[in-house]
Amino acid sequence: MPRSVKVLSGLVAGSALPAPLIPLTDCSPDRWRELPVARLRRSLLDWYAHHGRELPWRRTEDLYAIWVSEIMLQQTQVKTVIPYYERWLQAFPAVGQLAQANQQTVLMNWQGLGYYARARNLHRAAQSIIADYGGQFPEQMADVLKLPGIGRTTAGGILSAALNQPYPILDGNVKRVLARLIGLSVPPNHALSWLWEGSETLLDATHPRAFNQALMDLGATVCTPKQPQCDRCPWATFCQAHQLNLQSVLPMSETRQPLPHKRIGVAVIWNSHGQILIDKRPQSGLLGGLWEFPGGKVEPNETIPECIAREIQEELGIQVEVGEHLITLDHAYTHFKVTLSVHHCRHLSGEPQPIECDEVKWVSLGDLDQYPFPTANHKIIAALQSGERPFR
Ligand code: ADE
Repeated sequence: MPRSVKVLSGLVAGSALPAPLIPLTDCSPDRWRELPVARLRRSLLDWYAHHGRELPWRRTEDLYAIWVSEIMLQQTQVKTVIPYYERWLQAFPAVGQLAQANQQTVLMNWQGLGYYARARNLHRAAQSIIADYGGQFPEQMADVLKLPGIGRTTAGGILSAALNQPYPILDGNVKRVLARLIGLSVPPNHALSWLWEGSETLLDATHPRAFNQALMDLGATVCTPKQPQCDRCPWATFCQAHQLNLQSVLPMSETRQPLPHKRIGVAVIWNSHGQILIDKRPQSGLLGGLWEFPGGKVEPNETIPECIAREIQEELGIQVEVGEHLITLDHAYTHFKVTLSVHHCRHLSGEPQPIECDEVKWVSLGDLDQYPFPTANHKIIAALQSGERPFR
């Protein structure tokens, strides 16, 4: 039996998944070198020449534009990214314009893409490129890795795409492709350094740009998480998962805990001029720099109105009368879920202070869309726009 099949023997023999899993000690760099590397490279590049996707960032070698695309693509699908990428390059055509923009403008252009740390890091990195690299995106791997928001796979993606430098990549799609190809019998995140060795061994150092783009396209369009189209795959004859008909069980999934659930009381606070109070979230932390309607976590045995009155006193130092319910909505973040229960409130007394936020502001309903808000808050804004103004 070839050695690469052995790693899966526990899976093949039984109908259920093996327990315990084959130990990681079976993962040696030799396994990658035993693959028909030259044929794998050739077949993938040939497939890419015919079936690769036409994507906007593939029409440029501009490091800045490619960097922006790679950051947007870190946690977001290609079809979502394309319009954001195009708008971004109109708003900030070069690194200097991004560095000079204020954070609110940067976040407005990111609004809806999620994982806002990416936008804040792009902005900070642009300022560092101006200050430390004379406005030129650095071309050395060690320098690229020093920029905020750039890890090994993003750096490899940028330098291979823009400059054809021979650095491997290992994003989610590539992990899945390699895990199936080699027949990895543990979840990919348990074998990261080994998968990096795989990506490095397979990389075609004479065509790193095309090879990396091809690997990503193979993962995104053929070697998909569900129902991979093995009949269209240039690597099918070399692929352990396909050969053993295990493509629906590989890659092995991580054992995931259910997401914690938080209940949040949220206040739309009105003053006597018909303005609404919003606050800017602290820079560090989730959704940093975005604006929101104030509120906080419901404590055990607390009603929503009690929670809102308490949170508003603690966070802003003001007293409100909690009024009518406006909307309740659910939202899932990566690590938790929230239910937001939103009430209209009337400002009674006290000058709002930014006790647990960066800034507070009274704004008119019509001006709310000038501020970047987290996605969940957009439904609150829509509910406000379609409803009556209370407390007249
Ligand atoms: N995901 C990350 N980088 C990508 C790229 N250059 N093309 C398509 N998907 C990607």
